[in-house]
Amino acid sequence: MADYKLNNDAELLRLIRSDEPQEAEALFAAAREVRNEQYGNEVYFRGLIEFTNYCKNDCYYCGIRRSNAKVKRYRLSLEQVLNSCRMGDVLGFRTFVLQGGEDPWFTDERVVEMVAAIRQAYPDHAITLSIGERSRASYEAFFRAGANRYLLRHETANDEHYRKMHPPAMSLAERKQCLYDLKDIGFQVGAGFMVGTPFQTPENLLEDLRFLEDLKPHMVGIGPFIPQADTPFGAYPGGSLELSLKMVALTRLLLPKALIPATTATGTINPQGREKALMAGANVVMPNLSPKDVRKLYALYDNKICTGDEAAECRLCMEGRIRNFGFVPNMARGDYVGWTARVGTGA
Ligand code: 5AD
Ligand code: FES
Repeated sequence: MADYKLNNDAELLRLIRSDEPQEAEALFAAAREVRNEQYGNEVYFRGLIEFTNYCKNDCYYCGIRRSNAKVKRYRLSLEQVLNSCRMGDVLGFRTFVLQGGEDPWFTDERVVEMVAAIRQAYPDHAITLSIGERSRASYEAFFRAGANRYLLRHETANDEHYRKMHPPAMSLAERKQCLYDLKDIGFQVGAGFMVGTPFQTPENLLEDLRFLEDLKPHMVGIGPFIPQADTPFGAYPGGSLELSLKMVALTRLLLPKALIPATTATGTINPQGREKALMAGANVVMPNLSPKDVRKLYALYDNKICTGDEAAECRLCMEGRIRNFGFVPNMARGDYVGWTARVGTGA
């Protein structure tokens, strides 16, 4: 296996900049080997429930940003969320990922109610929240209610770049603080970034990797930027598959134990994008469990895949896809290797 000098910035930048297919293939092979050492050829399944597309934020890249008046907004009821969980459970999922925009209707109280209801119905399942920036006290309340994991992509670790992607009201420092708080509270934490966002440089991507090394998240979501026509970034080019895959591979080399999803965005820009991400070191897939009638409304970017399929179809389709590439589905909770839950919690 090629011996990469991962603490050498120049070496990482060279790999990020390289457009040599052979260089990329060697990198993917090295990442696969590291993934196999840690997790074998098993791929963890998570059931994704997109429960609200209301959002108070106005990120320039995101289709469900507040200013996008074209979006038909929806919010699932607690009953609908629990129905999605029930369907997921029947299909074998042991992790529910509850993702939404930053929706003020979901006060801490309502989120706690939702988490507690799921926890009561499914004492052994992992509950993952992905609902953006909140106070440390809110995160603590969610943890006490029974949430185990939290996904919050940092989006870019460079301050100047962050400001070009977000309105002035948002700050990278606050977002990073959220991630450190979440970790400190005892969540398994997921960070991550988009590849190929407008104004992104290779140096920015290097900074993303160095930030990940510092934070040491348990999960890292990486996917290409895909323009959404009704956003300020709607006319910019999207991120490339090759570079997205290289960032997955480099992340695997730097954080050998990380749980790294083959993201929907990667599957959207290439029909075999998710499979290729698994071949580049990823080891998680997140089929959609949201009710079919709201799928299309959770449009962060254009042409999103899996919006017309029932949960059961997605689950089977994903299994077939990964088996074709020599991977084996693992439906267990799939905690971070060596994870031990904090004493005194349901986690
Ligand atoms: N293209 C790709 N990914 C996007 N996200 C938001 N908008 C886009 C887009 N246009 C990603 C962000 C966010 C995650 C839920 O989806 O990284 O954190
Ligand atoms: Fe959703 Fe294939 S994974 S339809």
